[in-house]
Amino acid sequence: MQAAKQVKVFVTRRIPPEGQKLLSQVDFCSVEQWDSDEPIPRNELHKGVAGAHGILCLLSDKIDQELLDTAGPDLKVVSTMSVGFDHLSLDELKKRGIRVGYTPDVLTDATAELTVALLLSTCRRLPEAVEEVKNGGWTTWSPMWMCGLGLYNSTVGVIGLGRIGLAVARRLMPFGVKKFLYTGRQPRPENADDLHAEYVSCEKLAEDSDFVIVTCSLTPETQELCNKDFFQKMKKTSVFINTSRGSVVNQEDLYHALTSGQIAAAGLDVTTPEPLPTNHPLLSLKNCVVLPHIGSATYDTRNAMAVLAVNNLLKGLVGEPMPSELKL
Ligand code: NDP
Ligand code: DGY
Repeated sequence: MQAAKQVKVFVTRRIPPEGQKLLSQVDFCSVEQWDSDEPIPRNELHKGVAGAHGILCLLSDKIDQELLDTAGPDLKVVSTMSVGFDHLSLDELKKRGIRVGYTPDVLTDATAELTVALLLSTCRRLPEAVEEVKNGGWTTWSPMWMCGLGLYNSTVGVIGLGRIGLAVARRLMPFGVKKFLYTGRQPRPENADDLHAEYVSCEKLAEDSDFVIVTCSLTPETQELCNKDFFQKMKKTSVFINTSRGSVVNQEDLYHALTSGQIAAAGLDVTTPEPLPTNHPLLSLKNCVVLPHIGSATYDTRNAMAVLAVNNLLKGLVGEPMPSELKL
């Protein structure tokens, strides 16, 4: 270990209070931080990481070859306050022997809960119904007005039955779902068995599901996995939900599917880009509910993510096992 204060850590944003408190107690390194709730501009990020031994970043910071070159050869650890790692150039990090920490598990429940909330909001048209109350569209009780689609007796297809996918499916079971389908790179009996979920191809999942829920990680293979071909296979009465990453979806194809009646509705917590411009065509659609990437946004969860990210960073700096290290 280097002499005190020669170890430099750069933190790319103000983080939740419990993580911030932990950072303030660190005495074996000098901590520099972009002290703002807003993302750090790229040029400031370059300045900040130069000569750093450790970086604590968020999903909005792209950690690529160029940035790692700026950081230089002392960099030992990158700790991201997220479970998603598509913003990190893993090949480059591996090549340089830089260890990576991330925050799985602590956000699974909050994200699954939000996914269920988004699904119900979308299939029962809650934002549209609230708007009707406010704008005077609610004139009487009417037999077919504001009808939506229910989960009871339905088939739910999960793309990526990992931690969050499984937690979503478990929460949906009590709604009386008839059948769960899932897809991924291989069957996951350890997750699927207690749901009696059937492993199917992506095509079959699109064809047979009443609700498609995307909870996979974003990788080169899942980039735009949900595109024109996929939406064309879906039922006209089906609902599409994405809480993974925006780039798993081709948004133009989704817009077309929603406006042409190929699918009934979509709920998105993640988009490309983020934030989605307020004049984006998807935002003009009544059958599309868009949230601002709030899957893990509970106070407890964000604090737990921050604490885990700081602990990963500190363990990585002293060469000890991290609580959650990404296998590269
Ligand atoms: P896991 O690693 O547990 O699950 C990821 C899943 O992706 C696995 O089941 C994996 O299945 C699947 N997957 C990987 N490659 C493919 C593929 N080619 N086709 C289909 N499925 C694939 O991660 P988590 O459940 O913890 O998190 C999942 C993602 O959710 C994160 O990567 C992040 O992007 C997103 N997320 C979003 C949040 C939000 O706020 N909206 C909050 C938290 C996470 P298999 O290995 O069987 O292929
Ligand atoms: C993640 O952790 O990857 C989410 O997108 C934010 O919590």
